[in-house]
Amino acid sequence: MTWLTEGRTVIITGGASGIGLALTRRIAQDGSKVVIVGRRQQVLDAVAAELSAKGLKVEAFRGDVTTPAERVALFSDLTTKYPEASVLINNAGVMKRVDLLGDEPWESVVTELDINLHAPIHLSTLFAKYWIAKKVAGVIASTTSGLAFVPLTITPVYCATKAGLHSFIWSLRRQLQSKNIKVIEIIPPAVDTDLMGPGGLSYGVNLEEFLNDIYAKLKNGDDEVGYQFSENLRVGYRNAVLETFESIN
Ligand SMILES: NC(=O)c1ccc[n+]([C@@H]2O[C@H](COP(=O)([O-])OP(=O)(O)OC[C@H]3O[C@@H](n4cnc5c(N)ncnc54)[C@H](OP(=O)(O)O)[C@@H]3O)[C@@H](O)[C@H]2O)c1
Repeated sequence: MTWLTEGRTVIITGGASGIGLALTRRIAQDGSKVVIVGRRQQVLDAVAAELSAKGLKVEAFRGDVTTPAERVALFSDLTTKYPEASVLINNAGVMKRVDLLGDEPWESVVTELDINLHAPIHLSTLFAKYWIAKKVAGVIASTTSGLAFVPLTITPVYCATKAGLHSFIWSLRRQLQSKNIKVIEIIPPAVDTDLMGPGGLSYGVNLEEFLNDIYAKLKNGDDEVGYQFSENLRVGYRNAVLETFESIN
């Protein structure tokens, strides 16, 4: 038995499309209830209806993780409706092309920082404190990217958020190591989803092949999972920094 086969209630942001939807299908097929969170009510409802019709326990929950106030309200509403929830997957994300010398409005840059970096840090700490107080064995997983290790320079803010989130996850895991909360990092390579709009990432690896690989590793209990390009970067980074990490922490 692992956390994926224990019949838990799992909250996943961005669970109605792309990588989040593929994870939702697998996790629900393995017997958990999955609460999918996102901004588009119609998309959430359509996914929940389709998967519920197949006998899976999938519920739609509209929520936006952009601002601190929205995150606090979302945390409060989710824990009121699903007090038994014990898994949070921070998967919501946006990826924007940004010309650093262009006329990108600053608000757009801040929104990308908010959704990709501030939201997972904030939600992770809210849920961690809640579970520790309730003595719940929680799981916090977050989706970073192979671009956490090497930037694609046409998406500079995105890459900075994923590098920042990768770093945060190592600290979170260390701070929670004696608290019975498992901290997981899912590190995709380029995957063929609608992340940059329909057709925007059509060069990525096939979603199902990626999921087959990383889901088996997650079921095995792994804390950090990558695939192909991102797995090579993950291992290289880990080998390069682990000794120093251990010596300063
Ligand atoms: N595809 C890739 O190549 C790739 C590679 C590395 C990492 N990733 C990461 O994988 C994760 C999933 O991306 P994807 O490729 O599956 O693309 P996707 O289909 O566009 O998924 C992104 C999801 O995030 C949700 N979301 C965005 N902003 C939100 C907000 N403010 N509040 C709540 N939900 C929000 C979206 O739903 P709504 O629009 O309805 O809110 C959507 O369901 C992201 O973190 C992404 O950075 C993807």
